[in-house]
Amino acid sequence: MDSIKVVGGAELNGIIPISGAKNAALPLMIASLLTDETLTLSNVPRLRDVAQLTQILQNHGVDYSVNGKRNGQDELEGQTVHLTAREIVDTTAPYELVSKMRASFWVVGPLLARCREARVSLPGGCAIGTRPVDFFIDGLAALGADIEIEAGYVVVKAPNGLKGAQVVFPKVSVGATHTIMMAATLASGETEIVNAACEPEVVDLANCLKAMGAEIEGAGTPTIRIQGKPRLHGAHHAVVADRIETGTYAMAVAMTGGNVLLQGARGDLLESALHTLRQAGAEITEEANGLRVRRNGNGIQAVDITTEPFPGFPTDLQAQFMALMTKAEGRSCITETIFENRFMHVQELARLGAQIHIEGRSAFVDGVGTLRGAPVMATDLRASVSLVIAGLAAEGETSVSRVYHLDRGFERLEDKLTRCGAQIERISG
Ligand code: EPZ
Repeated sequence: MDSIKVVGGAELNGIIPISGAKNAALPLMIASLLTDETLTLSNVPRLRDVAQLTQILQNHGVDYSVNGKRNGQDELEGQTVHLTAREIVDTTAPYELVSKMRASFWVVGPLLARCREARVSLPGGCAIGTRPVDFFIDGLAALGADIEIEAGYVVVKAPNGLKGAQVVFPKVSVGATHTIMMAATLASGETEIVNAACEPEVVDLANCLKAMGAEIEGAGTPTIRIQGKPRLHGAHHAVVADRIETGTYAMAVAMTGGNVLLQGARGDLLESALHTLRQAGAEITEEANGLRVRRNGNGIQAVDITTEPFPGFPTDLQAQFMALMTKAEGRSCITETIFENRFMHVQELARLGAQIHIEGRSAFVDGVGTLRGAPVMATDLRASVSLVIAGLAAEGETSVSRVYHLDRGFERLEDKLTRCGAQIERISG
């Protein structure tokens, strides 16, 4: 299993190109199931989750091809992929594939809407919490589907097609919003999603669906209205910039000091996190082609945060922010409200000398002057990157094992950081 070795102490200076968002690319790829024409997506990041979803889509009959690299193209530039679901050859998404990645469960919406039936494995638990699928089931039932759970599979049928309806989510869910929105594009009549997720990835998916001929209003607000159409067509769509990757590198610079341009980053997609970072002492400015993050000699101030659905502070940046707070002046309180088990990085950060104690859903971090390198273990995607960031600011060597988690969601992390002066390398084995 590969590990990553970081020798801390170097400032970050230079340019980091921001990739297309993993969490937008995944639902966008799934949207290809809604039409028999080709959906072309550009700025798709090269990630393990994208490769995993490709396998799942191919199993349903989606033809997948990638443009070759062109002369003069930066090696970090995203790829352009073509997905054509001319015919759905299999409406089952098997356990072996779905169990590896929760987002693959979302195929249930498009498959049901287009083929009037689907059989999709339950995604199972996951390291950050139980993550049930009740909102998906209730939402699809509201659109008229018959649903049964058989031997670990959700079996959905709508022999006469889905019918538009009001779907009210008891709590904001990104995945359930994506899924019901996609299903409703091919339902008859109007669907209204109440308490919809407002995340930028939902807006990106809605924009792509509109380019495919869907009629959608209100994406990015808590109420989304979709007028169903008999069919959708092919389209070309560019994946939105990754706000979590942006926030992660911004926190890395805040922690190590230096001056980095996050090229292609969009500040409007993470205002709450940027506001918090400014309060902590980072200087962040919008430039024509991205965001510039600087921190000079000054220390980092402790700031309290609570994770919330968009536009609040994102849960996917909580671990990275905690890494930053380990070196802040004073005590910060970090409260996680989205997932019940997303503090697994705490004990690993403690191995580097961080002082953190957990009370219920809150972690209290007492800043320390110095972190010291140590062997640590990655436990999930965002937790892993928080350990890399902490390692960049620690004295001596940190080795992060189980980095396959990182490869799920950070495109060429070592390359991007090395280009800015970090001492980081992947050790195969
Ligand atoms: C998406 O997961 C993201 N994944 C997650 O990013 C992100 O942490 C999360 O949204 C919250 O922002 C992708 O986009 C691929 P939810 P999702 O449904 O859609 C509860 C990362 O690191 N819930 O919005 O699965 C659920 O348990 C990942 O990139 C139900 O109770 O999250 C959670 O407490 C990890 N019943 C809350 O809603 C349901 O049927 C929000 O989860 C569905 C969800």
